[in-house]
Amino acid sequence: MSQSHESAIVSYSPSDSIEARKEIFHLMNTYQATDDEKERSLGLFLRGSLLARILAITDIYKQIVNIPGAIFDIGTWRGQTAVICENLRAIYEPLHFNRRIVCFDTFEGYKGFSEKDKATSLHRDGTYGVGGDDYAAFLSHLLVQHEKSNAMGHNHGKHKVIKGDCRETIPHFFAENPSEYLALAFFDVNSYDPTLKSFEHVWEKLVPGGIAAFWQLTRDSIPAEARVYGENILPNYKHTIQRTTTYPGLCYLVKP
Ligand SMILES: C[S@@+](CC[C@H](N)C(=O)[O-])C[C@H]1O[C@@H](n2cnc3c(N)ncnc32)[C@H](O)[C@@H]1O
Repeated sequence: MSQSHESAIVSYSPSDSIEARKEIFHLMNTYQATDDEKERSLGLFLRGSLLARILAITDIYKQIVNIPGAIFDIGTWRGQTAVICENLRAIYEPLHFNRRIVCFDTFEGYKGFSEKDKATSLHRDGTYGVGGDDYAAFLSHLLVQHEKSNAMGHNHGKHKVIKGDCRETIPHFFAENPSEYLALAFFDVNSYDPTLKSFEHVWEKLVPGGIAAFWQLTRDSIPAEARVYGENILPNYKHTIQRTTTYPGLCYLVKP
């Protein structure tokens, strides 16, 4: 299933760059090599801005290696951040079998826009759907294949993909898993109420030194995270805040 998403429409890049991006993608799709060689060489087609995201996630991940707890990816969409985290887990802490990753999404698009939000044709209830239950099953399967292909892959099935409105699925998760604590949570649901509710549940379970990372905190076109931050987090929750070096939009709070 394919739908509009902002990186195909909203971009800081000039048109030449966008054309080059399309050409790189075309070259990937038509690349002449054996499957083995192609699979081994996918970095040929990894463009800089995606590499910047991966490096930013890596910078954050390195800060949680020595603290315990699970990782939440709230608003996982296609699950890329979760897959990168599984691979970082295998690189930086291959023997850490309790570093569970939990992906939350409706998989049917945004849910929870209200009068507090600035809905647009790209960001409103229902955009960013990826196919519901089928996609949740696909992502679970993909995560297991990454675990299996990584070091100590005999230990797989650690991660979960949970479909539904995060305002309900996150408290339900903690009711079912009362001894689960968090080292890291990524937020990317981009409407006010779901961001606020999920943050409140997460912060309670975040260990000292744990990280709450926001993909859109400084984006004026998607103001939900900034509003939640200004109205609720800044006055009420002790924290320090930083932005990642390679992907300035990705900002993170560290719990004291
Ligand atoms: C911008 S996309 C996330 C992109 C993803 N974090 C990434 O880095 O590739 C936003 C996602 O939030 C999900 N979402 C929005 N509101 C939600 C809610 N109330 N509960 C669960 N998921 C929600 C949407 O379905 C969508 O997949």
